[in-house]
Amino acid sequence: MNICIFASGTGSNFKSIYRAYRRGLIKSNIKLLITNNSTCGAALFAKKYKVPCEHISSAGYNAKELETKMMSVLIKNKIDFIVLAGYVKMLPESIVNKFDGRIINIHPALLPSFGGAGMYGLNVHKAVLDSGAKYSGLTIHYVDKEYDNGKIIFQKSIKVDKDDTPEMLQEKILKQEHIFYPRIIAELEKNYDKKSTH
Ligand code: GRF
Repeated sequence: MNICIFASGTGSNFKSIYRAYRRGLIKSNIKLLITNNSTCGAALFAKKYKVPCEHISSAGYNAKELETKMMSVLIKNKIDFIVLAGYVKMLPESIVNKFDGRIINIHPALLPSFGGAGMYGLNVHKAVLDSGAKYSGLTIHYVDKEYDNGKIIFQKSIKVDKDDTPEMLQEKILKQEHIFYPRIIAELEKNYDKKSTH
């Protein structure tokens, strides 16, 4: 299975996935990183470890051109499976359709709570703390046309401590993301049927 990671930020999930691949936990090919930010941590990490990286951003492209460019990069690299790891943009609809059931995302809360438009970064953790919830966690889910809406694959709950700040909660959850995202990818690749793609 050929995997393309999409990331926009620090890239700590990308790093943990890549390390799991180098250790042999993930057997698929981490073929490519696509980013909309050529100087983000994920892009710099890709450069350092020689993971091919495509910078595709809306600067200089209209939506249709961006979609065409993205699709052609995915096809050219024979990508079977897409892993969103802190990618802040909505994927074009044609890509969501073509890769239906083959795109996953990780969200730093227990969906369906604290998801949807605007629920990213510290906003999520602030909302959790404001709500008084005793538990937050992480969710790994398939991606469909709406934000944080696709079928849930895995969730892990994490206790909210009374002194937690949004930053502390973010850090606690992120640590668990790094453990579970690679494991879930390794599970999914076992059941992957290549014949049903391309
Ligand atoms: C993570 O919290 C993830 O759940 C969310 O975006 C963040 C990405 O962090 N989708 P990083 O760039 O992998 O460090």
